Amino acid sequence: MRATSTGQRLDITRAPLAERSTLAEDVRDGLTRPFKELVPKHLYDARGCELFDEICTLEEYYPTRTERAILTAAAADISDRTGAIELVELGAGSASKTRVLLDAIDADGRLERYVPFDIAEAVVRPTALAILGEYPELGQVHGVVGDFISDLDLIPEPATAAPRILALLGSTIGNFVGVERAALLSGITSLLRPQDRLLLGTDLVKDPAVLEAAYNDRRGVTAAFNLNLLEVINRELDGDLPVENFEHVARFESDLDWVEMRLRARAPCQARIGALNLEVDFVAGEEMRTEISAKFTPARIEDNLAAAGLEIERIYTDAGDLFALTLARPAA
Ligand code: SAH
Ligand code: TRP
Repeated sequence: MRATSTGQRLDITRAPLAERSTLAEDVRDGLTRPFKELVPKHLYDARGCELFDEICTLEEYYPTRTERAILTAAAADISDRTGAIELVELGAGSASKTRVLLDAIDADGRLERYVPFDIAEAVVRPTALAILGEYPELGQVHGVVGDFISDLDLIPEPATAAPRILALLGSTIGNFVGVERAALLSGITSLLRPQDRLLLGTDLVKDPAVLEAAYNDRRGVTAAFNLNLLEVINRELDGDLPVENFEHVARFESDLDWVEMRLRARAPCQARIGALNLEVDFVAGEEMRTEISAKFTPARIEDNLAAAGLEIERIYTDAGDLFALTLARPAA
């Protein structure tokens, strides 16, 4: 389907490429640190998005199916309580769970606009087109390609005074350390009018063995997802990082309550990142951090929200207390 065939129902806004693609600076900064690290937003090129969708179907990766089940049970209540006519979704990806919420709002006859926001250029348009096709009553889908840390201002103004929901699902909030997490939540608060709500998905603290398995599946899909970051660097920055010399590591850090994903050099190696004119050395066993996935308790959810000027309206969870979906509002 072409954009023209959907007329005004489809709109896509893109942050300027030069601002969005911070790969060069991030890689230079990360690989010249005493403890090397890489920035997770670069995991999501077209291949990374495909691998992520595959992770979501893995037996070990309980968060997706659990959040979907919670959403399925809660969607009518969320639609009813909020009276929302519009859904803005940060880090929308392929929006597979989002349909559950769109269905509930649609069933109440109020579905007017969906705004999928993602850093991954490769997913925004296909997601927008798919949703437009599936929901003929939906007035508009306005995709935004940008970084939700710096580009929240690209989100279109609410269409009317009627409420809207900002959703951040999949425990994406857990991929940010404290300071960034606080900044993201505060940015969200500044978009909320008194009648609007945040819907926040968070994975909960549990048995470390269950957590580690979720980020280190037997089929190696998560490993491939993590290693793909090296392929992105090699392709985009003319690098020669020896991908086969690295292995995926996922460990629950119990003092920090997060799973840390790393890439470990099996043997010493050297690499050159041509576009940066940078040579890097790795010693045998050297690990670089690529991603964290923080795990929450209800008290931590409340604290993080309060620090951003938000208060809990409802927490929905599953029978096993694996995952939580929190509906929050601007503090009175
Ligand atoms: N919401 C989906 C996808 C979660 S994966 C789900 O729950 O399954 C995280 C998504 O956030 C990816 O699609 C990724 O491209 C996007 N993302 C990661 N960092 C981002 C950033 N800084 N700004 C915007 N989107 C980002
Ligand atoms: N937000 C997801 C999570 O923290 C992202 C994710 C899932 C992820 N699997 C991953 C990130 C593997 C890095 C590696 O669960």
